Amino acid sequence: MEVIIQPSEAAAATLTAKIVAHDLRANPRLVLGLATGRTMESVYRELVRRHKEEQLDFSRCATFNLDEYVGLPASDPHSYHHYMREHLFSRVNIDLLRTHLPDGAASDLDAECRHYEGLIQEAGGIDLQLLGIGRAGHIGFNEPLSALRSRTRVKALTPTTREQNATSFPSNSEVPRRAITMGVGTILDCRRCVLLATGEGKAEIIAKAVEGPITSMISATALQLHPRCTVIVDEAGAGGLKEKDYYRWIFANEPEWEGFR
Ligand code: GLP
Repeated sequence: MEVIIQPSEAAAATLTAKIVAHDLRANPRLVLGLATGRTMESVYRELVRRHKEEQLDFSRCATFNLDEYVGLPASDPHSYHHYMREHLFSRVNIDLLRTHLPDGAASDLDAECRHYEGLIQEAGGIDLQLLGIGRAGHIGFNEPLSALRSRTRVKALTPTTREQNATSFPSNSEVPRRAITMGVGTILDCRRCVLLATGEGKAEIIAKAVEGPITSMISATALQLHPRCTVIVDEAGAGGLKEKDYYRWIFANEPEWEGFR
């Protein structure tokens, strides 16, 4: 794991977008794993800007989103399908046929989960997976006690997650109770992971995810097992980390980050 501390939320989002743009330019057929949530909005804004101003080309890449609420059709304004169209897909030259999200309105949810895993396999696996983190430490919707080898499946959302995500719904009771999510094992199979977390509200969970013991109670801790995972935080999000000086030293000296500093 590598931790990169950026001076501000904007700088953290810009660096995340820069990594995506770099990998996409190196491989136009990139298989990109996408995440939703407020944190990702500025990453997508920056990617759209790079598409418009710097001709960043999405036409040949494929995308797979981490998750979708059960019961919401793609047309629902609260669905992650809608979120992705709003923030990215309708604003860049992506081929919609190559964008994928689990179908939360499928009549056979288990079959849909197996199908989604199959699609990822067929695409050759995910090259770069973007991740946010929930306050309880979930990646995707891998709620506490998600098996560290889990695959795409239906998960019941915890009261904490439903409360946290309620701001995007008209009322708390309308937040779906379940979601389809890539499993922790599915995420660990991605060739590269980039987790972005900003703001004071994420400081405590980031410290646990990065410096705490690996536990299925906090699915983000499983990323410590990933051979190529970068955690990007702003100063506020880094607030709980003990080894900040060490992380800064690595970022300042690691040749891989030349051009990103
Ligand atoms: C939702 C998503 C997660 C995301 C989290 C963080 O729960 N399913 O994938 O990491 O939100 O959201 P935010 O960026 O709004 O804090």
